[in-house]
Amino acid sequence: MKIGIIGVGNLGYSIALGIMSEKKEIRCKSLYLTKRHLNSLKHLEKASMVKITNDNKRAVRYSDVIILAVQPAQLKEVLEEIKDTINPKKHTIISVVSGRKIKEIESVLGADVKVIRCMPNTAISVGQSMTCISANGLAKKDVTVAKTIFNALGETLCIEEDLMQAATVVCASGIAFWMRLIRATTQGAVQLGFHSDEAQQLSMQTCLGAASLLIDSRNHPEQEIDKVTTPSGCTIEGLNEMEHQGLSSSLIQGIVASFKKLNQI
Ligand SMILES: NC(=O)c1ccc[n+]([C@@H]2O[C@H](COP(=O)([O-])OP(=O)(O)OC[C@H]3O[C@@H](n4cnc5c(N)ncnc54)[C@H](OP(=O)(O)O)[C@@H]3O)[C@@H](O)[C@H]2O)c1
Repeated sequence: MKIGIIGVGNLGYSIALGIMSEKKEIRCKSLYLTKRHLNSLKHLEKASMVKITNDNKRAVRYSDVIILAVQPAQLKEVLEEIKDTINPKKHTIISVVSGRKIKEIESVLGADVKVIRCMPNTAISVGQSMTCISANGLAKKDVTVAKTIFNALGETLCIEEDLMQAATVVCASGIAFWMRLIRATTQGAVQLGFHSDEAQQLSMQTCLGAASLLIDSRNHPEQEIDKVTTPSGCTIEGLNEMEHQGLSSSLIQGIVASFKKLNQI
C-alpha cells in the first residue's frame, strides 16, 4: 500500500506514527507526508519509506490511499488543488476531517471516487482510538484499508454516515467526558486523604480496569457492578447516592446537549 497523508498536524502525525510502527500489517511501501511548513516533520525522513513534501499533488501521484487530515476550513482548497491528480480507479480517499460529509468531498472530486470518512479520537496518539468509519457505495470494498490503518491505532467500528455526528459526540467529545469523571473521582480520593498524584493514579487505573473487565468479559456493566455491591454495603450506598444526585441522567443529558450543539454548528 502506498499512503499519502495531506495535512500532517496533530492527528496526521499520530496516524503517520501508527502506520510506521505497524508497517508489516499495513504493508506500507511508501508514506508521503504533506504540510505547508515542513520543519516539524524533518526527523521522520530518516525512515526510508517516508517522503515529506509541501506538494500535495506529488503526494497524490505517488500514493494509492490519500488520507485528508487538514482542518475543516482548509478542506475545500485542498480538494480543489488535488482534484485533477485523482484517478478514481487508483485512489481511495480517507477523510478524518470533522463534520465534512462524503457528499461534500464527492462534489469536488466527483461521484466516481472512492471516499471513506473516519472519526478517530485523541487517544489515537497512544494507539487507543475508537474510530468510526463509513464509506460511499464505491468504497464499501475498500473499507478494509481504513480498518487496517485504524485498527493499528485502536479499535474501529463501521457505521452509517448519518450516525457520524453521534459518534463524534460519544467518542471524540467522549474523551473530555471521561476525563471529567476521572478528575471528579480524583477529587473524591483527595478528600478521603490521598495526595493528588496518588489519587489520580488510583482513579486512572481503576477506570482502565473497569473498561478492561468489560472488554475481556463482554459483560453488561451491571453484571460487574453486582459483583462489587454487597447487600447493605458501602458500594451500593455510594452508587445510589450518586444516582439520587443525577449521575446517569446528567451524563445522558450532557451527551444529548453536545449532539444538539454539534448539529447547530
Ligand atoms: N486531533 C484529533 O484528535 C482529531 C480527532 C478527530 C478528527 N480530527 C480532525 O482532523 C483534522 C486535523 O486535526 P488536527 O488536530 O490534526 O489539526 P492541525 O494540527 O491543525 O493539522 C492540520 C494540518 O494541516 C496542514 N495544512 C493546512 N493547509 C494545508 C495545505 N493546503 N496542504 C497541506 N497541509 C496543510 C497544517 O500544517 P501547515 O500549516 O504547515 O500546512 C496542519 O499541520 C481536523 O479536521 C479535525 O477536525 C481531529
